[in-house]
Amino acid sequence: MRSPIFFTGLLLCVAISTSAASSARQIARPAKRSYDTHSYYVLEHDPTLDVSVQDCADALGAEVVERVGELYDHWLLRSQKIVSDNNAEIDTEDAVLSAYSRLLQDHGLHKRDPLSLAIKHVARQVPRQRVKRATPPASIDDSDSQSLARDIAQRLGIADPLFQDQWHLVNEDFPEHMVNATPLWDMGITGEGIISCLVDDGLDYESEDLAENFDAAGSHDFNDHVNLPKPMLFDDHHGTRCAGQIAAVKNAVCGVGIAYKSKVAGVRILSGPITDVDEAAALNYAYQNTSIYSCSWGPSDDGRSMEEPSLLIQKAMLNGVQNGRNGKGSVFVFASGNGASAGDQCNFDGYTNSIYSVTVSSIDYKGEHPYYSEGCAANMVSTYSSGSNHNKQIVTTDIGKDKCTRSHGGTSAAAPNAVGIFALALQVRPDLSWRDIQYLCVRTAQIVNPGDNDWELTAMGQPYSYKYGFGRLDAYDFVIAARDWEPVKPQAWIEASPLQLRGGTMDADGNFAGGEGLGKHGVESTLEITRAMIEENNFEVLEHVTVRLWANHSRRGDVEVMLTSPNGIRSVLAEKRKGDKDKNGFPGWRFMSVKHWGENPLGKWTLKVSDQNENDESGTFVGWSMSLWGSAKDASKAKQYTLKSSDELPIPFPPPNPTPIPDSTAVVPSTTKSYQKPTVVSSTEPGEIDIASSTAQLTTAEHSSEAVEGNGMDDNTRFLLALAGSAFSILLLCGAAFLVVRQMRWNRAARQGSYTPVAGGEEVRMHLLEHDTERPVSASTRQSDVIYDAEEEAPIMGVASGQIGFHSEFLQDDELGSSGDLPLYSDEPSAAQASREDAEGPRRSSSSSKS
Ligand SMILES: *[C@@H]1O[C@H](CO)[C@@H](O)[C@H](O)[C@H]1NC(C)=O
Ligand SMILES: *[C@@H]1O[C@H](CO)[C@@H](O)[C@H](O)[C@H]1NC(C)=O
Repeated sequence: MRSPIFFTGLLLCVAISTSAASSARQIARPAKRSYDTHSYYVLEHDPTLDVSVQDCADALGAEVVERVGELYDHWLLRSQKIVSDNNAEIDTEDAVLSAYSRLLQDHGLHKRDPLSLAIKHVARQVPRQRVKRATPPASIDDSDSQSLARDIAQRLGIADPLFQDQWHLVNEDFPEHMVNATPLWDMGITGEGIISCLVDDGLDYESEDLAENFDAAGSHDFNDHVNLPKPMLFDDHHGTRCAGQIAAVKNAVCGVGIAYKSKVAGVRILSGPITDVDEAAALNYAYQNTSIYSCSWGPSDDGRSMEEPSLLIQKAMLNGVQNGRNGKGSVFVFASGNGASAGDQCNFDGYTNSIYSVTVSSIDYKGEHPYYSEGCAANMVSTYSSGSNHNKQIVTTDIGKDKCTRSHGGTSAAAPNAVGIFALALQVRPDLSWRDIQYLCVRTAQIVNPGDNDWELTAMGQPYSYKYGFGRLDAYDFVIAARDWEPVKPQAWIEASPLQLRGGTMDADGNFAGGEGLGKHGVESTLEITRAMIEENNFEVLEHVTVRLWANHSRRGDVEVMLTSPNGIRSVLAEKRKGDKDKNGFPGWRFMSVKHWGENPLGKWTLKVSDQNENDESGTFVGWSMSLWGSAKDASKAKQYTLKSSDELPIPFPPPNPTPIPDSTAVVPSTTKSYQKPTVVSSTEPGEIDIASSTAQLTTAEHSSEAVEGNGMDDNTRFLLALAGSAFSILLLCGAAFLVVRQMRWNRAARQGSYTPVAGGEEVRMHLLEHDTERPVSASTRQSDVIYDAEEEAPIMGVASGQIGFHSEFLQDDELGSSGDLPLYSDEPSAAQASREDAEGPRRSSSSSKS
């Protein structure tokens, strides 16, 4: 038997030679994991020091497995678990983490130990389970054959037997409600040359409806650690169904995909718990050739969870938009979530909240809001899926040689429809960036249900709704607009320093102190964006707004959060959640809003935090910060954002002063000054902030250089800052003149856009919880009853197994899905449902095969 050292060395050689083979390299297939016998760690390594990854691993007593996906300085390590006779892991101190903390301590004693400097971070990897976003099944009626669909089929030679039932492609009853891709097919736009990746539970590449369009090179199975993403579990049909929506082949099997000549790859991660390392690798898998990542999953939609991707996964998403698709950026598409009836909102999900993802919600056959589809201020667009009419779910490919299904649904099925539309656009304009795709969503989405009181006008005069985002995607309008689209300038951002209220603080363990006590009428805090900040940050057109909130509350679900822009546009960031009893408040949680897209950001932004349940449960508003994301005014001065360790929860407040992180991945050379906070709080003494009026003011940007300078920068950076300082003074003069003109233009634009300020008053509700109009009237199926029961009472799901804590949500839900307690968001039909149906009578057919 060969020694483990031999294998380690071998792996390392393979890894190094692979990475050395530069951009044209083949993707290194990830090694098999064995969570039973080994513990896994991620090592963040500093390659600029003369200490190899192997040396670091040796010092930690671990072996090197491989590089983490496409994250250059991150390495997967492992060490053997100590297991007892009956295979249970013996609960001992974690040897690797202990070695790491000893190194850190030693480092304090012997200054500048290169070993501990080279090890920037070590974290243990905990496998977690993500939750699919399909809806429960429903009964099926065979529809009559349709005439409009028949005409199109004849014209385009579509022989797929279920094409006429794919109402999302051709809707005979409500022709204004369909994806509207068929006119593009007539023009020969079918997604040719574009690869989308289903990050899901597998993809049945042996299905005759998918084989021809399957991209094996971009596929991998991170659950079973093999190359091809074969669905293996009984309910591994989710990814295959989503893939069919995008790229089901035009042939004699089932129906067709929206982009039926595009390719689909499958990356399997949902068929068991996976680690952050694997999720990070999955989201960057084959990211030069793959254009779009279709993600119909996320943290549990139970109305209680608040989960964000870990820093490693955030890095992978940032890496994707910055370096994927040869720098045009990976397009990430996330389903908004199926928890609306449980009071869930997509602003409590860190994936849908990410500015790097297009968040997609559902509308149904009639263009109505389905009871399950989550809304929030991060919701960008909506498209078709299941809803009130149970005969009108999504008809698509299923697992099996020639199997089809008529019962695909949930926001799970909305996201792939958006992916199909984006694939069509990228065929026409492969040069469009990830942000161009988002702009096209904002600009071309169309209002549905105009009578719904969830619609409000943005400052640009565009209707926006938490439920529908900017509205329904129309494939034809999207692609035609894409054809002539002028690519937007690179990204720029303004990061306003955190504000504390009444000396509020929070440490890294999540302990809050201070802050302003919340009441029904709420506490407001105001932060000003000045002309100088806009100039200083080379900022032009506003896109996303992110807000971090530090708030302590003994029942988080009682808290409501609302952001009001200088133009009076309001974003409800959190509406109260009946089921959320969490006691840990908001430890720097990041909310996102797209509702301010295109708005002039100049002026005072107000965050109001209120307690909507006056009882024994109470809390405090401790502090907040805000970032504006948009386009750069001067493209040649654009920078690339880098993540800081303070981008991971819980975030101490006020956050530690950012130390400049050497940025090895940045493509833009750092000839411009290093990234810095545009503002600082006027005083270092929290007590001096004006809290009498609950309003804290910021000073303008002039102070920033000093503030950062005092923070251990090298001379080089100091010089650059000084240089930037003088350049800034000149800019300020030019900028002032420029902004006067700009302001006049903005004002005019706002007027022309028939902008009506939202009427005053206490509450602007999200209407997410008002289901009376959306609720399917004939809610006769058992599954629906379960959902409505869940809606009435606060303990929504998983309460039966109450001993499982908040942080094991993913595993918990998975277990519940198969134990059948409340299969609210598990994929359908679950085994439990099936067996219940078997026990209670004739089982509805939830899928039909071709022949
Ligand atoms: C990417 O596409 C190129 C050109 O078709 C091909 O040579 C290469 O193998 C592909 N790489 C992957 C990882 O799919
Ligand atoms: C939150 O605030 C309450 C009262 O203001 C306090 O008793 C509690 O300790 C705080 N919680 C945390 C986690 O600091």
